[in-house]
Amino acid sequence: MKIHDVQEFRSVRAQWGKKLLILGHYYIPDETIALTDRQGDSLALSQIAAADETCEAIIFCGVHFMAETADILANSPEKLAKRDGKRIPVILSSMTSGCPMADMANMAEVTECWNRLGELVNTEDILPVTYVNSSAEIKAFCGRHGGVVCTSGNARRVLEWALKQKSRILFLPDQHLGRNTALEMGIPREQIVMWKKVEGALPENIKNAKIILWEGFCPVHNQMDAQKAAELKTENPNAKLIVHPECVQELVCQSESAGSTAFIIKEIQNAQSGDRFIIGTESHLVERLKNEYPELSIQHLGKPHPCEDMARNTPESLFSALEQLENDTLENLVSVPNEIAKDARIALENMLNLG
Ligand code: 13P
Ligand code: SF4
Repeated sequence: MKIHDVQEFRSVRAQWGKKLLILGHYYIPDETIALTDRQGDSLALSQIAAADETCEAIIFCGVHFMAETADILANSPEKLAKRDGKRIPVILSSMTSGCPMADMANMAEVTECWNRLGELVNTEDILPVTYVNSSAEIKAFCGRHGGVVCTSGNARRVLEWALKQKSRILFLPDQHLGRNTALEMGIPREQIVMWKKVEGALPENIKNAKIILWEGFCPVHNQMDAQKAAELKTENPNAKLIVHPECVQELVCQSESAGSTAFIIKEIQNAQSGDRFIIGTESHLVERLKNEYPELSIQHLGKPHPCEDMARNTPESLFSALEQLENDTLENLVSVPNEIAKDARIALENMLNLG
Protein backbone atom coordinates (compact mmCIF):
# COMPACT_ATOMS: atom_id res chain seq x y z
CA MET A 1 0.00 0.00 0.00
CA LYS A 2 1.02 3.60 -0.60
CA ILE A 3 0.16 6.70 1.43
CA HIS A 4 -0.21 9.76 -0.80
CA ASP A 5 -1.24 12.59 1.51
CA VAL A 6 -1.95 13.69 5.08
CA GLN A 7 -5.57 12.54 4.93
CA GLU A 8 -4.57 9.00 3.94
CA PHE A 9 -1.83 9.06 6.54
CA ARG A 10 -4.30 10.02 9.29
CA SER A 11 -6.73 7.31 8.29
CA VAL A 12 -4.04 4.55 8.26
CA ARG A 13 -2.50 5.85 11.47
CA ALA A 14 -5.95 5.82 13.21
CA GLN A 15 -6.29 2.08 12.49
CA TRP A 16 -3.10 1.44 14.47
CA GLY A 17 -4.44 3.22 17.58
CA LYS A 18 -2.24 2.80 20.68
CA LYS A 19 -0.32 -0.02 19.01
CA LEU A 20 1.76 2.66 17.29
CA LEU A 21 3.72 5.48 18.92
CA ILE A 22 5.06 8.27 16.69
CA LEU A 23 7.72 10.36 18.43
CA GLY A 24 9.08 13.70 17.17
CA HIS A 25 12.00 15.84 18.30
CA TYR A 26 11.29 19.58 18.55
CA TYR A 27 13.76 20.33 15.71
CA ILE A 28 11.82 18.56 12.94
CA PRO A 29 9.72 20.66 10.53
CA ASP A 30 6.27 21.88 11.63
CA GLU A 31 4.33 19.89 8.98
CA THR A 32 5.89 16.68 10.35
CA ILE A 33 5.66 17.47 14.05
CA ALA A 34 1.92 18.06 13.52
CA LEU A 35 1.62 14.36 12.59
CA THR A 36 3.45 12.97 15.63
CA ASP A 37 1.82 11.64 18.82
CA ARG A 38 4.38 12.88 21.32
CA GLN A 39 6.97 15.62 20.99
CA GLY A 40 9.92 16.36 23.22
CA ASP A 41 13.54 17.09 23.83
CA SER A 42 16.00 14.21 23.91
CA LEU A 43 15.41 13.55 27.60
CA ALA A 44 11.62 13.46 27.36
CA LEU A 45 11.68 11.22 24.29
CA SER A 46 13.97 8.72 26.06
CA GLN A 47 11.65 8.74 29.07
CA ILE A 48 8.58 8.18 26.86
CA ALA A 49 10.25 5.27 25.03
CA ALA A 50 11.23 3.74 28.37
CA ALA A 51 7.79 4.15 29.97
CA ASP A 52 5.39 3.15 27.19
CA GLU A 53 3.64 -0.17 27.95
CA THR A 54 1.10 -0.36 25.15
CA CYS A 55 2.71 0.29 21.80
CA GLU A 56 3.83 -2.50 19.46
CA ALA A 57 5.82 -0.27 17.09
CA ILE A 58 7.58 3.09 17.26
CA ILE A 59 8.23 5.53 14.44
CA PHE A 60 10.93 8.04 15.35
CA CYS A 61 11.06 11.43 13.64
CA GLY A 62 14.49 12.62 14.65
CA VAL A 63 18.03 11.39 14.10
CA HIS A 64 19.67 7.98 14.24
CA PHE A 65 20.98 7.99 17.83
CA MET A 66 17.46 8.82 19.07
CA ALA A 67 15.99 5.76 17.35
CA GLU A 68 18.83 3.62 18.78
CA THR A 69 18.02 4.92 22.26
CA ALA A 70 14.32 4.14 21.80
CA ASP A 71 15.18 0.62 20.58
CA ILE A 72 17.46 -0.04 23.58
CA LEU A 73 14.88 1.18 26.10
CA ALA A 74 11.76 -0.27 24.50
CA ASN A 75 13.33 -3.73 24.13
CA SER A 76 14.90 -4.25 27.56
CA PRO A 77 14.93 -7.87 28.84
CA GLU A 78 12.16 -7.03 31.38
CA LYS A 79 9.96 -5.59 28.65
CA LEU A 80 10.66 -8.48 26.29
CA ALA A 81 9.74 -10.93 29.07
CA LYS A 82 6.37 -9.19 29.53
CA ARG A 83 5.75 -9.44 25.77
CA ASP A 84 6.80 -13.09 25.45
CA GLY A 85 10.00 -12.02 23.69
CA LYS A 86 8.25 -9.89 21.06
CA ARG A 87 10.43 -6.94 20.01
CA ILE A 88 9.05 -3.49 19.31
CA PRO A 89 10.36 -2.39 15.93
CA VAL A 90 11.74 1.15 15.91
CA ILE A 91 11.52 2.77 12.49
CA LEU A 92 13.49 5.94 11.79
CA SER A 93 11.43 8.22 9.60
CA SER A 94 14.48 9.48 7.66
CA MET A 95 17.18 6.84 7.38
CA THR A 96 19.80 9.36 6.20
CA SER A 97 19.39 11.52 9.31
CA GLY A 98 22.39 11.10 11.56
CA CYS A 99 23.94 13.55 13.98
CA PRO A 100 27.33 14.89 12.87
CA MET A 101 28.27 15.49 16.49
CA ALA A 102 27.54 11.88 17.43
CA ASP A 103 29.80 10.80 14.55
CA MET A 104 32.70 12.78 16.05
CA ALA A 105 33.39 10.07 18.64
CA ASN A 106 33.98 6.55 17.37
CA MET A 107 35.02 3.49 19.35
CA ALA A 108 38.56 3.27 17.95
CA GLU A 109 39.33 6.87 18.92
CA VAL A 110 37.69 6.62 22.32
CA THR A 111 39.50 3.36 23.10
CA GLU A 112 42.80 4.95 22.12
CA CYS A 113 42.06 7.94 24.33
CA TRP A 114 41.14 5.67 27.26
CA ASN A 115 44.35 3.68 26.87
CA ARG A 116 46.48 6.83 26.70
CA LEU A 117 44.72 8.24 29.75
CA GLY A 118 45.58 5.01 31.52
CA GLU A 119 49.28 5.73 30.97
CA LEU A 120 48.97 8.98 32.92
CA VAL A 121 46.22 8.54 35.47
CA ASN A 122 44.23 5.69 36.94
CA THR A 123 41.28 5.07 34.62
CA GLU A 124 39.56 3.21 37.49
CA ASP A 125 39.03 6.70 38.88
CA ILE A 126 37.54 8.17 35.66
CA LEU A 127 33.83 7.95 34.92
CA PRO A 128 32.93 8.18 31.22
CA VAL A 129 29.83 10.29 30.63
CA THR A 130 28.32 10.56 27.19
CA TYR A 131 25.85 13.08 25.87
CA VAL A 132 22.89 11.15 24.46
CA ASN A 133 23.98 12.48 21.05
CA SER A 134 26.36 9.55 20.60
CA SER A 135 26.31 6.10 19.03
CA ALA A 136 25.01 3.07 20.93
CA GLU A 137 28.61 1.76 20.94
CA ILE A 138 29.84 4.82 22.83
CA LYS A 139 26.97 4.48 25.30
CA ALA A 140 27.95 0.81 25.73
CA PHE A 141 31.57 1.85 26.41
CA CYS A 142 30.26 4.12 29.18
CA GLY A 143 28.02 1.37 30.56
CA ARG A 144 30.95 -1.09 30.70
CA HIS A 145 32.93 1.40 32.79
CA GLY A 146 30.12 2.21 35.24
CA GLY A 147 29.38 5.41 33.34
CA VAL A 148 26.25 7.23 32.37
CA VAL A 149 24.41 9.08 29.62
CA CYS A 150 23.24 12.68 29.97
CA THR A 151 21.10 15.03 27.94
CA SER A 152 21.13 18.81 27.79
CA GLY A 153 18.13 18.68 30.16
CA ASN A 154 19.94 16.91 33.01
CA ALA A 155 23.68 17.39 32.37
CA ARG A 156 24.35 19.17 35.66
CA ARG A 157 22.52 16.55 37.75
CA VAL A 158 24.37 13.76 35.94
CA LEU A 159 27.82 15.38 36.30
CA GLU A 160 27.19 16.02 40.01
CA TRP A 161 26.31 12.35 40.41
CA ALA A 162 29.32 11.27 38.34
CA LEU A 163 31.74 13.26 40.49
CA LYS A 164 30.40 11.47 43.57
CA GLN A 165 31.36 8.15 41.94
CA LYS A 166 34.85 9.04 40.65
CA SER A 167 37.37 11.92 40.81
CA ARG A 168 37.37 12.62 37.06
CA ILE A 169 34.99 12.54 34.13
CA LEU A 170 35.69 11.83 30.47
CA PHE A 171 32.89 13.77 28.76
CA LEU A 172 31.87 12.64 25.24
CA PRO A 173 31.35 13.94 22.59
CA ASP A 174 30.16 17.57 23.00
CA GLN A 175 32.92 19.76 24.38
CA HIS A 176 30.52 22.71 24.73
CA LEU A 177 27.86 20.99 26.83
CA GLY A 178 30.65 19.51 28.98
CA ARG A 179 32.46 22.83 29.44
CA ASN A 180 29.31 24.91 29.98
CA THR A 181 27.97 22.49 32.58
CA ALA A 182 31.28 22.12 34.41
CA LEU A 183 31.73 25.91 34.63
CA GLU A 184 28.13 26.32 35.83
CA MET A 185 28.94 23.83 38.60
CA GLY A 186 31.86 26.01 39.67
CA ILE A 187 34.63 23.67 38.48
CA PRO A 188 37.72 25.86 37.89
CA ARG A 189 38.76 26.35 34.25
CA GLU A 190 42.19 24.84 34.87
CA GLN A 191 40.52 21.58 35.91
CA ILE A 192 38.66 21.35 32.58
CA VAL A 193 40.93 20.08 29.81
CA MET A 194 40.42 18.79 26.29
CA TRP A 195 41.68 15.52 24.83
CA LYS A 196 43.08 16.52 21.46
CA LYS A 197 42.07 13.62 19.28
CA VAL A 198 43.86 15.09 16.26
CA GLU A 199 47.27 15.42 17.87
CA GLY A 200 46.66 12.49 20.21
CA ALA A 201 48.50 14.58 22.82
CA LEU A 202 47.41 14.93 26.41
CA PRO A 203 47.45 18.33 28.04
CA GLU A 204 50.21 18.92 30.59
CA ASN A 205 47.75 19.46 33.40
CA ILE A 206 45.77 16.25 32.86
CA LYS A 207 46.71 14.99 36.30
CA ASN A 208 44.81 17.86 37.95
CA ALA A 209 41.86 17.67 35.59
CA LYS A 210 38.37 16.92 36.84
CA ILE A 211 36.70 17.09 33.42
CA ILE A 212 38.35 15.75 30.27
CA LEU A 213 36.41 16.95 27.23
CA TRP A 214 36.17 15.26 23.87
CA GLU A 215 36.63 17.59 20.91
CA GLY A 216 33.13 17.19 19.42
CA PHE A 217 30.59 19.91 18.70
CA CYS A 218 27.23 20.44 17.06
CA PRO A 219 27.85 22.06 13.65
CA VAL A 220 24.51 23.89 13.96
CA HIS A 221 25.00 25.47 17.41
CA ASN A 222 28.73 25.94 16.90
CA GLN A 223 28.01 28.54 14.20
CA MET A 224 26.15 30.74 16.65
CA ASP A 225 28.27 33.71 17.34
CA ALA A 226 28.97 35.55 20.61
CA GLN A 227 29.90 38.71 18.68
CA LYS A 228 26.57 38.68 16.81
CA ALA A 229 24.72 38.18 20.09
CA ALA A 230 26.48 41.22 21.58
CA GLU A 231 25.48 43.34 18.55
CA LEU A 232 21.85 42.19 18.72
CA LYS A 233 21.71 42.93 22.43
CA THR A 234 23.03 46.42 21.84
CA GLU A 235 20.31 47.01 19.22
CA ASN A 236 17.67 45.41 21.41
CA PRO A 237 18.73 45.95 25.05
CA ASN A 238 15.47 44.70 26.58
CA ALA A 239 15.63 41.36 24.79
CA LYS A 240 16.45 38.27 26.80
CA LEU A 241 19.12 36.06 25.19
CA ILE A 242 18.36 32.35 25.61
CA VAL A 243 20.67 29.75 24.10
CA HIS A 244 21.16 26.01 23.95
CA PRO A 245 24.14 24.68 25.96
CA GLU A 246 25.62 23.17 22.77
CA CYS A 247 26.65 26.78 21.98
CA VAL A 248 30.17 28.05 22.68
CA GLN A 249 31.00 29.23 26.19
CA GLU A 250 31.54 32.87 25.17
CA LEU A 251 27.93 32.93 24.01
CA VAL A 252 26.43 30.97 26.90
CA CYS A 253 28.11 33.24 29.44
CA GLN A 254 26.52 36.38 27.97
CA SER A 255 23.05 34.80 27.80
CA GLU A 256 20.36 35.38 30.41
CA SER A 257 19.68 31.64 30.44
CA ALA A 258 20.75 28.44 28.70
CA GLY A 259 19.02 25.08 28.54
CA SER A 260 17.59 22.24 26.49
CA THR A 261 14.93 22.71 23.84
CA ALA A 262 12.23 21.90 26.44
CA PHE A 263 13.71 24.57 28.73
CA ILE A 264 13.68 27.17 25.93
CA ILE A 265 10.05 26.36 25.12
CA LYS A 266 9.08 26.71 28.79
CA GLU A 267 10.78 30.13 29.02
CA ILE A 268 8.69 31.31 26.05
CA GLN A 269 5.47 29.79 27.43
CA ASN A 270 6.01 31.69 30.70
CA ALA A 271 6.67 35.04 29.00
CA GLN A 272 4.35 38.08 29.14
CA SER A 273 2.91 39.73 26.04
CA GLY A 274 5.44 42.17 24.59
CA ASP A 275 8.51 40.38 26.05
CA ARG A 276 11.47 40.25 23.70
CA PHE A 277 13.80 37.32 23.04
CA ILE A 278 16.87 36.47 21.00
CA ILE A 279 17.09 32.70 20.73
CA GLY A 280 20.18 30.69 19.89
CA THR A 281 19.03 27.27 18.82
CA GLU A 282 18.00 25.30 15.73
CA SER A 283 15.76 27.35 13.45
CA HIS A 284 12.74 25.04 12.99
CA LEU A 285 12.07 25.42 16.71
CA VAL A 286 12.65 29.18 16.71
CA GLU A 287 10.31 29.66 13.72
CA ARG A 288 7.64 27.54 15.42
CA LEU A 289 7.89 29.64 18.58
CA LYS A 290 7.64 32.85 16.52
CA ASN A 291 4.43 31.57 14.88
CA GLU A 292 2.89 30.21 18.07
CA TYR A 293 3.58 33.33 20.14
CA PRO A 294 2.92 36.36 17.89
CA GLU A 295 2.38 38.51 21.00
CA LEU A 296 6.09 38.14 21.81
CA SER A 297 9.06 39.51 19.89
CA ILE A 298 11.27 36.52 19.07
CA GLN A 299 14.31 36.73 16.82
CA HIS A 300 16.96 34.28 15.70
CA LEU A 301 20.50 34.78 16.90
CA GLY A 302 21.70 36.06 13.53
CA LYS A 303 20.67 34.09 10.49
CA PRO A 304 18.45 30.99 10.92
CA HIS A 305 20.43 27.82 11.63
CA PRO A 306 18.56 24.71 10.45
CA CYS A 307 19.74 21.18 11.24
CA GLU A 308 19.72 19.51 7.83
CA ASP A 309 19.49 16.05 9.37
CA MET A 310 16.38 16.95 11.33
CA ALA A 311 14.94 18.70 8.26
CA ARG A 312 14.91 15.45 6.30
CA ASN A 313 12.07 14.24 8.54
CA THR A 314 9.43 15.39 6.09
CA PRO A 315 5.77 14.27 6.08
CA GLU A 316 6.66 12.09 3.07
CA SER A 317 9.38 10.32 5.05
CA LEU A 318 6.84 9.67 7.80
CA PHE A 319 4.30 8.35 5.26
CA SER A 320 6.97 5.98 3.99
CA ALA A 321 7.78 4.78 7.54
CA LEU A 322 4.10 3.98 8.14
CA GLU A 323 3.89 2.21 4.77
CA GLN A 324 6.83 0.05 5.85
CA LEU A 325 4.90 -1.03 8.95
CA GLU A 326 1.76 -1.66 6.93
CA ASN A 327 3.60 -3.64 4.25
CA ASP A 328 5.93 -5.37 6.71
CA THR A 329 8.99 -4.18 4.80
CA LEU A 330 11.01 -2.51 7.54
CA GLU A 331 13.80 -0.89 5.52
CA ASN A 332 14.24 1.85 8.13
CA LEU A 333 14.39 -0.49 11.12
CA VAL A 334 16.96 0.61 13.71
CA SER A 335 17.98 -2.36 15.80
CA VAL A 336 20.97 -2.27 18.16
CA PRO A 337 22.77 -5.63 18.48
CA ASN A 338 22.12 -7.28 21.86
CA GLU A 339 25.72 -7.22 23.10
CA ILE A 340 25.92 -3.43 22.53
CA ALA A 341 22.37 -2.74 23.74
CA LYS A 342 23.00 -4.59 27.01
CA ASP A 343 25.88 -2.27 28.05
CA ALA A 344 24.39 0.89 26.55
CA ARG A 345 21.23 0.22 28.61
CA ILE A 346 23.29 0.29 31.81
CA ALA A 347 24.47 3.84 31.01
CA LEU A 348 20.98 4.93 29.97
CA GLU A 349 19.37 3.42 33.07
CA ASN A 350 22.00 5.07 35.28
CA MET A 351 20.70 8.36 33.84
CA LEU A 352 16.99 7.54 34.03
CA ASN A 353 17.35 6.36 37.64
CA LEU A 354 18.52 9.87 38.57
CA GLY A 355 14.98 11.06 37.74
P1 13P B 1 17.82 18.56 23.41
O1 13P B 1 16.72 17.82 22.79
O2 13P B 1 18.35 17.87 24.62
O3 13P B 1 17.53 19.99 23.69
O4 13P B 1 19.06 18.54 22.38
C1 13P B 1 19.08 19.22 21.23
C2 13P B 1 19.72 18.49 20.13
O5 13P B 1 20.64 18.96 19.51
C3 13P B 1 19.21 17.21 19.75
O6 13P B 1 19.99 16.71 18.75
FE1 SF4 C 1 23.18 16.78 15.93
FE2 SF4 C 1 23.26 19.42 16.22
FE3 SF4 C 1 21.51 18.37 14.52
FE4 SF4 C 1 21.18 18.07 17.16
S1 SF4 C 1 21.09 19.97 16.02
S2 SF4 C 1 20.98 16.48 15.60
S3 SF4 C 1 23.30 17.94 17.84
S4 SF4 C 1 23.73 18.28 14.37
